[in-house]
Amino acid sequence: MKRPIDNSIGLFLFGQTPYTLSMSKIDWLEVSERIDWLKKPTVAGDYSFHKPVSIQWFADGELNVSYNCVDRHLPQHANEVALIWEPDNPAEASKKITYAELSIQVNRFANVLKKQGVKKGDRVTLYLPMIVEAVYAMLACTRIGAVHSVVFAGFSADSIANRIEDCDSNIVITADEGLRGGKKIELKKNIDEALELLSAKGKNSVSKVVVVKRTGADIAWTSQVDVWYHEESAQVSDVCAPEPMKAEDPLFILYTSGSTGKPKGVLHTTGGYLVYAAYTHEKVFGYRAGEVYWCTADVGWITGHSYIVYGPLANRATTLVFEGIPSYPDVSRFWQVIDKHQVNIFYTAPTAIRALMREGEEPVKKFSRKSLRLLGSVGEPINPEAWSWYQRVVGDGRCPVVDTWWQTETGGILISACASEDGTTYPEVLKPGAATRPLAGIYPEILDTEGKILTGAAEGLLVIKESWPGQMRTVYRDHARFEETYFSAFAGYYFTGDGCRRDADGDYWITGRVDDVLNISGHRLGTAEVESAFVSDARVSEAAVVGYPHDIKGQGIYAYITLKNGVTPTEELKAELRQHVRHVIGPIATPDIIQWAPGLPKTRSGKIMRRILRKIAENQIESLGDTSTLADPSVVKDLVENRSNK
Ligand code: PRX
Repeated sequence: MKRPIDNSIGLFLFGQTPYTLSMSKIDWLEVSERIDWLKKPTVAGDYSFHKPVSIQWFADGELNVSYNCVDRHLPQHANEVALIWEPDNPAEASKKITYAELSIQVNRFANVLKKQGVKKGDRVTLYLPMIVEAVYAMLACTRIGAVHSVVFAGFSADSIANRIEDCDSNIVITADEGLRGGKKIELKKNIDEALELLSAKGKNSVSKVVVVKRTGADIAWTSQVDVWYHEESAQVSDVCAPEPMKAEDPLFILYTSGSTGKPKGVLHTTGGYLVYAAYTHEKVFGYRAGEVYWCTADVGWITGHSYIVYGPLANRATTLVFEGIPSYPDVSRFWQVIDKHQVNIFYTAPTAIRALMREGEEPVKKFSRKSLRLLGSVGEPINPEAWSWYQRVVGDGRCPVVDTWWQTETGGILISACASEDGTTYPEVLKPGAATRPLAGIYPEILDTEGKILTGAAEGLLVIKESWPGQMRTVYRDHARFEETYFSAFAGYYFTGDGCRRDADGDYWITGRVDDVLNISGHRLGTAEVESAFVSDARVSEAAVVGYPHDIKGQGIYAYITLKNGVTPTEELKAELRQHVRHVIGPIATPDIIQWAPGLPKTRSGKIMRRILRKIAENQIESLGDTSTLADPSVVKDLVENRSNK
């Protein structure tokens, strides 16, 4: 997929040299003024999407992120609520944290980290449930210039170990246990196991584990390493000067799955990311002072970073942090929380909407939801049926629904309907399932597989032709992988990995990933990761994993497994392998369907033809396409006959 040189497009040659955005319609320097700089930048974007790829924004500016999210609101608004925390169990008390209180807590946490030896530039791994301390810890890192790497609390010890090792963290912040849907998650135990795995390899860089007490469970304790957060924080001051940071200093690393190999560390930097998170939070949600804003994501994902923590707090919003799940203690939980805290803006994922839609209207109608003004969707394509239900039932037909398309790599929303300039209205006609239009300052193109730009109504591959401030800067410690993954398919463009259709009105419809990345309930997973988890079981000889359409999850995991000679294929073995993959990666990777495959369809050069496996998993056996190039076409017949998705 190389883009041919085409001078008629103009941009190819033009794009070879780094240039600033003076020619674009948005003045990013002006946008950057929405945040407080210690030293104002004089340059906006300076970037090249050609190798060597380099991306910089506001490079001569200096700032501190925690100052922007907390301190600058204090003179006038100290007593406004920054965080509302709603616990997993509705019988437990919720919390309201003002900006004044947030300031004290963030300063304390920053001092605890300093006392434990964390220095500017150090990587700190967070493995926390959805508790206020997660927000404190993230902001505390930014206060002292440490780089956080938040690992979703649903990931296994193996997954944490890999992430700690990749970024060489010296400190881990966790909790004794997490609570979700009434179930306890043994977070500290998982950290202990991860550190053991690392020690066994001689790769344990962690000197301290800071433990927040959430459930009070009895946990194993290593006194040279483990410290209780509540004990340490009682001993430090609540004043910690914010560290001046350069705009391009690293802010955080967030691991995400790609189509090959292990998850990559997406690196975001300080100035551009914050400007973009704040800018998009305002443009898309039209946030007005005093409103209660609720994004149901987890801080372990980019949505939690940009739209629970950084965007809302930079904009002095009241942001709700929810520990629980939509179905506990019952399927009215979301709507109950909306009434309880008078939520105005609600931002969730299609998978949750589909699951709740299945429960009918009654659990929704039990609550008034009168406070709602706007509904948002994120994480995966939203099917028109779910969109319409969301709009008609949850929003009573009066709230606009914005479908926001973006990625871990983009830092913030790139395509979505936006509020009007005065923040009061949305486009009258919003199409169910369309992400609609790019935000001001975002320039997408749709290309065919040859790299030709498709104009007008068209379907193809989604690329972005110019940088924006929230764009990732590199893969942590692997710039070559960054260039290879995003900038080699089509020279001069950022390749998103998504397919896209643009309709005659110019609205964009995201059709889903075109690479080997799965989107399971809005969670991103690489097929290669799941396959390597399977083959780490000694009984498995080969594994091939594909996605298939799933009513609730959007996509489910379908695995074709070849066992080693002499191993008997049984239902018990399927259950064990399912459990094994959960253990290696985490519950989000639980395979839905396992099919025994005596052989896999391979080309003569040994490459697995996933196209065929996808069609079988989708039960579209009429359209398997040409199988004559396979080394052994007869394997297909067996797979079709024994498919599990009939
Ligand atoms: O395929 C797209 C899908 O989620 C991918 C990005 O996943 P992740 O980095 O985990 O970030 C998720 C939250 C931003 C994209 O490549 N995706 C995300 N939002 C949408 C979407 N697909 C369709 N419509 C969306 N609104």
